[in-house]
Amino acid sequence: MTIDPAANAAIFDGPEALTFDDVLVVPGWSEVLPTDVSTATTLAGIELKVPLMSAAMDTVTEAPLAVALARAGGIGVLHRNLPVEGQAAEVDRVKRSQSGMISAPISLPPTATLADAEALMAQHKISGVPITDPDGRMVGILTNRDVRFCTSADDHKPVTEFMTADGLVTAPMGTSLDDAVGILHTHRIEKLPLVDGRGRLAGLITVKDINKRIEHPDATLDDAGRLRVGAAIGVTDVEERVGALADAGVDMIVIDTAHGHSRGVVDAVRIVSKGWPDLPVIAGNVVTAEGVETLVEAGADVIKVGVGAGSICTTRVVAGAGMPQLSAIWECRMAARAHGIPIIADGGIVTSGDIVKAFVAGADAVMLGNALAGVDEAPGELELVDGAMWKTYRGMGSAGAMRGRATDRYATGQGNQKHVAEGVEARVRYAGPMSELVGQLVGGLRSGMGYAGAADLDDLRDRTRLTRITGAGLRESHPHDVQVLRDE
Ligand code: XMP
Repeated sequence: MTIDPAANAAIFDGPEALTFDDVLVVPGWSEVLPTDVSTATTLAGIELKVPLMSAAMDTVTEAPLAVALARAGGIGVLHRNLPVEGQAAEVDRVKRSQSGMISAPISLPPTATLADAEALMAQHKISGVPITDPDGRMVGILTNRDVRFCTSADDHKPVTEFMTADGLVTAPMGTSLDDAVGILHTHRIEKLPLVDGRGRLAGLITVKDINKRIEHPDATLDDAGRLRVGAAIGVTDVEERVGALADAGVDMIVIDTAHGHSRGVVDAVRIVSKGWPDLPVIAGNVVTAEGVETLVEAGADVIKVGVGAGSICTTRVVAGAGMPQLSAIWECRMAARAHGIPIIADGGIVTSGDIVKAFVAGADAVMLGNALAGVDEAPGELELVDGAMWKTYRGMGSAGAMRGRATDRYATGQGNQKHVAEGVEARVRYAGPMSELVGQLVGGLRSGMGYAGAADLDDLRDRTRLTRITGAGLRESHPHDVQVLRDE
């Protein structure tokens, strides 16, 4: 495949800025099958097998959606329309949802009653609890199987009357997951406590966690086998919020603002990158090379691109400011690649075809709001309207969201005056479970890579040509001259 990289520059260097519907990917010589291409990408050391991120919006990303997207191979960014403790608790929910080895297992002393154990198991949604003496040594384990036939008359009795103590199976710390599977199978047990050299409980491996790993082979995991998650912050309460998010185990901080090429964002990037040097910092949003340079210089590890492209945005209408998204991606990519910094294309992506175009223009990952807001795992209730199912979706700069805490994303500098909304409150079509939707979106991306002859996202970025199209070309691109009966 020989593509002159200057071909795309000629398109973007013209006087007009372009967006998704202005271009198409030119099919190229292909020796790759869509099933064989790699969609993997790396953002500040975090590898995603599926290059999709969810928008930090209160109708999109809370813990359930972040869990579902990380299991599918992407990563969620938890919104910040919550008090600090609330957002940190959401991080904690994601991090506790699955794990390679639980490193600080919840345990009970032998003096605890059955009622204590049942309350603890219900609270943490766990099916068993190790019983340890005051030195932390394992003396037994109480699981659902031990208490199956207990009645309320047993509530006050000590757990030692019911726990399994004889033939207790444990393994030393450092036991590999593969070895753990063998031990769990041999003994037909569901939980394997790991103990240190003095017999003290130090970890726990469960069948449930092992099954989750097998069910979700593409999942985005940290070194401890927990799902990865990002969290958004603004430019106020930076230290307090990042401190709490970091304590809860967050994997990346996203400085989430409508205008990233600004003093407040630069200061926030500096605070986070200096105070938490091991935590990747994503900053934005910008749409120009100067914006990228400024944030990279301040210490951002990844840059987020897009102003006014979002489907619920009214920034361009209200403020008259913005940049058509594909040109923004191209310009930012050119500036960011000089520093080896990846970029995220945020906003305006509705179809899998848009995702393909975003990568050809230079994205390293895409952030989706609209496209994910309709899934089962998104917050909000299903609504039946005119015979169709919908879910609520609103801009973080909409009046409704700003009544929460998102005011500083859109209203910084508006002082005490009434906040001017830069987003709308809306609804999107119900989209079923996340796993199916991601399958469709990644299927479309793979198909686009097949047409481009791109074996991976680098090929798509560096060796794939775009062409400009006219209004007639756009009409031709969609179903035409037919009455569509079914569109899935
Ligand atoms: P999509 O197109 O996926 O865009 O719905 C999601 C992105 O839109 C941005 N966003 C907003 N932009 N006013 C804006 O101008 C808003 O109220 C608003 N809320 C979200 C944000 O970057 C998100 O990821």
